[in-house]
Amino acid sequence: MAILIKNIKALIQVEEKFRPNVSGKEMASLPTVKDAWIFIDEGRIIDFGTKDSYEIRLPAGQAGIMNHEKSTHKLTSSPAQQLTTIDATGKLVFPSFCDSHTHLVYAGSREIEYIDKIKGLSYEEIARRGGGILNSAKRLHKASEEELVEHALARLNEIMMLGTGAVEIKSGYGLSVEDELKMLRVVRRLKEISPLTVVATFLGAHALPEEYKGRQDEFVDLVINEMIPQVAAEGLADYIDVFCDRGFFTPEDTDRILLAGMKYGMRPKIHANELEYSGGIQVGVKYNALSVDHLEYTGDEEIKCLLGSETMPTILPGAAFFLGLQHAPVRKMMDAGLPLAMASDFNPGSSPSGNMQFILSLACINYRMLPEEAINAVTLNSAYAMGVSEELGTIARGKKANLFITRPIPGYEFMPYAYGSNKVETVILGGKVITNQGLRITE
Ligand code: NIG
Ligand code: FE
Repeated sequence: MAILIKNIKALIQVEEKFRPNVSGKEMASLPTVKDAWIFIDEGRIIDFGTKDSYEIRLPAGQAGIMNHEKSTHKLTSSPAQQLTTIDATGKLVFPSFCDSHTHLVYAGSREIEYIDKIKGLSYEEIARRGGGILNSAKRLHKASEEELVEHALARLNEIMMLGTGAVEIKSGYGLSVEDELKMLRVVRRLKEISPLTVVATFLGAHALPEEYKGRQDEFVDLVINEMIPQVAAEGLADYIDVFCDRGFFTPEDTDRILLAGMKYGMRPKIHANELEYSGGIQVGVKYNALSVDHLEYTGDEEIKCLLGSETMPTILPGAAFFLGLQHAPVRKMMDAGLPLAMASDFNPGSSPSGNMQFILSLACINYRMLPEEAINAVTLNSAYAMGVSEELGTIARGKKANLFITRPIPGYEFMPYAYGSNKVETVILGGKVITNQGLRITE
């Protein structure tokens, strides 16, 4: 089944030549094609162009919609029954958002802690009282794998209809061998059944369980000697994470855990510098982390360390908004020439929303990013931050056809501007139109 979207007001974030990410000043440039069409077949973007021509140039040797051997086909002569045509008059087409940092497998919301927060307790005070991550761990322990899959699928379906096409999901509410494995098996199941692209990160060192109080080293040993080998044996995780911050895990703990994970082929992707200058950024860069995330406390030393590295600095504006944290020095980082990604951090404690359209608005209002910079941060750069930029993050020939069509809007600046309303009208994942239930209505 092929899809032609025609009369597109503008095709956003198009890419003629592969770039793994954009940094510094390049972040302000957002390539677009006006009055465009795009042609999708067999789950891939085949071609796009301006309205003067609907010619489809298929790569030599690839089966075309007409099984024609020539490398150029007139779309008008293709069999109508194999082709869905969508008229996008007045509408824009974007590559799906890539949400490179979430904790969306969890058992139950935590709005009671939210009330405590409103009354003035900090995230760390709530955690010290046994709330926070430990509260989620208790609840996850009681939940079955099936229940967790069902609830996570509902969250996936929600973010999918808001424009997300790829999501990273972390463990970290297990905190025991058995429950960490349970979480990651849930993520594996989601990979199998969801039309979204899903990647998995093992976050055994998310918080210290009650019974290990005063014995942090022993818990780190448990992560290294038992959790990592078993996670690796079942091939359950693509990446390894540690919450490296004040009151959680030290740079030394992080160093040991990352080294152990890397021996099993898991590249680091860590929580760092949310609560203080924790040294997390440095340890992440030392081990060539794919990303270091949060970064509210980023100074000259951290910027210097990130420059020239392959590590994507990733900001989580939803968590800073929800917890009332100081903002990461985003402009300073971009002026220094760094790339930036942004993700939702969807989790029940510090960011109970996976709405990437709202992240775009926060990027512009709270971090003073231009709409172009913000869109780069939630597409191409966040695709890099989850290791999928060769497949996703831009509208490029040969990439996976994960994209969305907006409702009629004036231009891409309207996306962050009109905060709080859903501008996404039609979702296409893997080359198929997706309905609200995650069902495919085209084959
Ligand atoms: O990214 N910072 C650490 N972990 C999560 C919060 C998880 C929770 O509170 O449940 C975060 O914000
Ligand atoms: Fe997080």
